[in-house]
Parts: sequence; structure tokens; C-alpha cells
Amino acid sequence: MQTVHLPMIGTDIAWRDAARAHLAQGTPPEALLWTHGDAPQTDLFGATAAPNPAMVTPLTVPKPFVDLSRRVVWHSDPERFARLYAFLWRLRDRPALMRDTADPDLIRLNGMEKNVRRCAHKMKAFVRFRDIAQGTTGRRRFAAWFEPTHFTLEPTSPFFARRFADMDWVIATPHVTARHENGRVTFAPGQAKPDLPEDGAEQLWETYFCNIFNPARVKISAMQSEMPRKYWKNMPEAKHIPALIAGAEARVREMAETAPTLPPLRAARVLDRLHQPRDLPELSFDAMRARAEEASRDLPEGYGRIILGEGPQTAQVMIVGEQPGDHEDQAGRPFVGPAGQLFDRIAAEAGLDRTGAYVTNAVKQFKFRRQGKRRIHMPPNRTEIEHGRWWLDLELQLVHPKMILSMGATALQALTGSRDGLLKRRGQIEATPYGPVLVTVHPSYLLRLPDRVRQEDETALYRNDLAVFAGMAAAA
Ligand code: URA
Repeated sequence: MQTVHLPMIGTDIAWRDAARAHLAQGTPPEALLWTHGDAPQTDLFGATAAPNPAMVTPLTVPKPFVDLSRRVVWHSDPERFARLYAFLWRLRDRPALMRDTADPDLIRLNGMEKNVRRCAHKMKAFVRFRDIAQGTTGRRRFAAWFEPTHFTLEPTSPFFARRFADMDWVIATPHVTARHENGRVTFAPGQAKPDLPEDGAEQLWETYFCNIFNPARVKISAMQSEMPRKYWKNMPEAKHIPALIAGAEARVREMAETAPTLPPLRAARVLDRLHQPRDLPELSFDAMRARAEEASRDLPEGYGRIILGEGPQTAQVMIVGEQPGDHEDQAGRPFVGPAGQLFDRIAAEAGLDRTGAYVTNAVKQFKFRRQGKRRIHMPPNRTEIEHGRWWLDLELQLVHPKMILSMGATALQALTGSRDGLLKRRGQIEATPYGPVLVTVHPSYLLRLPDRVRQEDETALYRNDLAVFAGMAAAA
């Protein structure tokens, strides 16, 4: 048995090098004992084995495994290195294993990867800096204490470096400390909780938190899953939560009496039209589907089949997107292509259960122009949105959701009569003839953003919108 000791700082690179070296040497998984931390340990049978870089022969590892291992190494499970190595050992002869979603080892590793991702997300959301004295550089200095469940400080520090590029900061955790000075991040061993000074900015933040706390959205279990209690002790605003929750009911009543949410004025005329009862046939679910199939038989060039929504007819919530794409047209189902997959991932992170919702689109047909063998997506025009609304109205009549999530400008237009100012309206709840509509962007908007930082920020806002909607759905 050989022991491979991995350092607390730079664990990812050290694991990768050691795994490559041992794989190249043909060391079987059962011959390795992996340890991690500040002091190298040896087991009863062997000395610490340093991998010999000279032995490393170029090795091709599938990219998805590289991405997976880069996250899993930061998990706190002591077995993670051994599990990764054992999987890599098997992967050597069976590269297709990476796609075997039923493989129990892969399932376990994917679960760990998800835990780490979630922990990093929490860290980005819940680290609270305190202002400390100005240093010799003249730049403002901040310090934060955080206790992550996994070792996520090191992989998350590029995010903090970008976000707080113009200040010097230290984030201390029990295992590692990250220090950002003059644009450079360095790492040092962890430490005990420091005594951080009271901060004037903290009070402002607490006041802000109390003001933005929306009593109408209080769903304690959903809130605790998004902001778990274990983080509260290091968050100054958290001490106000119990009192805010206790007063929530009275505040909701007060809000309902004084301030109904109004749609933008320019939409009022269109809303009038939306209020007019439409001449909709009384169809059952099955009859509606049969009619959609019938209408899809003889399609003009440039249009795909009619794709209706999916989900329980008894769903309390409806999610409305824009228009099926090529993938959806081929599968005959909404939201299965790249935008749908992104939606599924972020919805799961936000605690929004897609399977409990009725998921549909404002426009029901993929519209395209041909370019060689490719079918290039074309946006719907007003007439097509109006045509889609006939089907959407039928679905709304049948499902009768208590609330609706509107994703993107086309959905917003179909549901509120106006697509203007989407980015200003996002995150708000608008009153419509169909019930309350929470406005957000479309997942394909996130896919199209060219700038990574912007993409991260917009994704965080989108996740937040979905979490709010999940909270409303849970309270429905
Ligand atoms: N975009 C949508 O709005 N709907 C889909 O079904 C797929 C992509």
C-alpha cells in the first residue's frame, strides 16, 4: 500500500498529477491510500509516495471527467480521491463509461460534484465582508469569515477576485485563507474565527435586507433550503429573519390592501383586449392534443409541428417559454434542447420542480429558414404570437394555474400584451387576466451572453427569479 498525500492548497493540481503518474505506472486503486491536509500521513504498511513527474506519459482523459474531477476534489468526503482514481482506472479501458448515467460510481461522483457546485454557489451568495482599516496601499480593505461545507474557497476565489477587483480582501475559513492584494490572490493555511470589527456598512446592509424582505414570498422551508440555517451565524442580516417572518402575515395583508401590482400603462389597452372573453372551444386535454396533431399534418415550408405543453393538468403553476426550437420540433416536446437543459439545471438548483409544473410556450411551432441541411431558427412575428395565444389560452383554460412564470420577451408579450422593458420588469410580479405572472428572462438569453462575468451575474439573477417562483409555488 502506498500513501499519496495531497496538500490543502492546490489540491486539484496535486490530485491530477498524482493520478496521472500512478495511472501511467499502472498502480491499481486498491494499492493507494489518499490523504489530504496539512500534515502528511503514512499508513501502517508503506511510506508516503510522491508521484514521479518523469513517469507521466501523455494520457488522454475525456474532458467531462476532467471537469468532474476538478470539482469533486474539493468535496469534504475523505474517500473522494480514491473514488475518482478508481473511476479513472475503469475509464482507461472504457471511455464510454462517462456516458453511462446508470453507473453507481458515476452517480456518486456526480452527486458530489453537485454538492460542491451548490456549496460554491452558497459561498458566493453568503460571504459577508467587513470593512477593516485602510492599508498602506491606500485601497479599502475588507475581511470575511466563512465556514463552507466543502473546500470551496480556492475554486471560488476567482469569482471574488473579479467581483471585488478594486479592493483588497481576505476570506478566512477553517481550512484555507485567501488574500487578494493588488489584484493577486494568494492562499495560506486556515485559521480560527478572527475577531472582526463592527462595520458601519453592515447596518446599511441590514436595513436594505429588511426592506427588500418580501413577506408575500415567505415560505420558510423554501427559504431555508436557499439560505440554510448553518450560514446564518456569519450573516449580519440573518438575526432579523425570525422577526420578519413573525410579522409577515400582517405585512402581506397591508400590502394587499394598499398596493395591487399593476401592469405597465402602455399595456393597458392590450390587456383590455386580453380581458375580452375569447371564443374558445370547450375541449378536453385529449381533444386539444388531437386537434394539434390534426393541425400539424399539412405544414407550410418553414414551420414545424404544433408542440403543446407538458405536465400535470392539475399543476398549480405554469411555465411559459417562447417557441420550440429544432430539438423540440424533433422530440415533439417543449424545452428539451440546450435552453431547456439549462433551464432544468438552474431550476433544480433553485428548488423549482419542473415535473410538478405545466411547461409550455407562447408560440407553438418552430419557425425556420433552410440553409443547406440546417434549419435556422426565426423569431415569431406578431401574427404568429397571436396565433400561439389561441393555443396558450386553451391550455390556460384547461390547467388554470395559480401563477405563471414568463420567460423571455415573447412570453411576456403573449401574457401581458407588452414585451417592452423586459430587463427592467424582470423579477416583478405583474397582474394579468391569467393570474399573477412572475417576469424573467429566457434561458437562451444566458446562453447568448458573450461575456463570462455578465453570464455569471445574469445566471445568478435568473436563479434568484426561479427561487422566488419556487417559493411562491410552494406557498400556493
Ligand atoms: N425555447 C423555448 O422558449 N421553448 C422551448 O421549448 C425551447 C427553447
